[in-house]
Amino acid sequence: MFKHLLKALLCALPLFAGLAQADSPVVIKFAHVVADNTPKGQGALLFKKLAEERLPGRVRVEVYPNSSLFGDGKEMDALVMGDVHMLAPSLSKFEHYAKALQVYDLPFLFDDLAAVDRFQQGEHGQQLLRSMEHHNILGLAYWHNGMRQMSANKPLQEPRDARGLKFRVQASAVLDEQFKVLRSIPRKMSFAEVYQGLQTGVVNGTENTWSNYESQKVHEVQKYITESDHGVIDYMVITNARFWNRLPEDIRSELEQVMAEVTVEVNRQAEELNELSRQRILAAGTTEIINLTPEQRALWREAMQPVWQKFARHIGDELIAAAQASNP
Ligand code: LMR
Repeated sequence: MFKHLLKALLCALPLFAGLAQADSPVVIKFAHVVADNTPKGQGALLFKKLAEERLPGRVRVEVYPNSSLFGDGKEMDALVMGDVHMLAPSLSKFEHYAKALQVYDLPFLFDDLAAVDRFQQGEHGQQLLRSMEHHNILGLAYWHNGMRQMSANKPLQEPRDARGLKFRVQASAVLDEQFKVLRSIPRKMSFAEVYQGLQTGVVNGTENTWSNYESQKVHEVQKYITESDHGVIDYMVITNARFWNRLPEDIRSELEQVMAEVTVEVNRQAEELNELSRQRILAAGTTEIINLTPEQRALWREAMQPVWQKFARHIGDELIAAAQASNP
């Protein structure tokens, strides 16, 4: 008797699972490679909070920080395949999907984050959000982090100081070239490997934002950080287009509203979070922060200028001009 009852139950399981499926929430997996206490980390958590408050029981957002689900080199394929639903990669990591996005990596193109924001909110920046749809990738928003600084275990005051050093770069041909024109040696490396790469000497230096330096304790293995502001690390929040477009219309429009609100908050606090990280690095006493004179900064700008010529034909002169026009 019991055996028959058990068998009947096991046969009915898929039905129950199906029924549960009908009432179960839409699960959105949101993966990224940084710590929670960064602009992007805070943004992902705020998106989760507001999405679940506004759509109780209908949406559950699972946030996976610090490369805990997918890291560099795997996250984009996972999104296209639908194994993860949302990412916010650095704009440096899209060259295989949209060459035009390389505009964001051109050294000394944007004077500050406000200029980046003006470009992103303009016609060209908004078009770039939709530049990867043929790859099933939909751009939902731009989130700020901050301007890029550079670091090594020797002072970087003038371009010749970088010669012969090995610098970790993101997976970006533009950033690779940026260090090659300085006659140094770029090493593409995932973000999760940066600390260990510097600690073991696989690389001698790197570049990043204050919040990424501090949240990964990279300043503890770099004696000098040069406040160069020579580039930007910003993000495009992306989703699997097929997944997003198949959401029930009321859920999708609520999530778009939530994304808009979260974007305002992330971008409002990005510079504040980076300044806090800079102060913490100063207070830690592990690292000397080098400020460049205007003449020294001009030398870095001039040394990196050849990078523009090499990538202008991929990016397009119109896009570069539009980005330049966003400067004050
Ligand atoms: C990096 O790889 O250095 C950055 O893109 C990490 C991040 O997402 O801020």
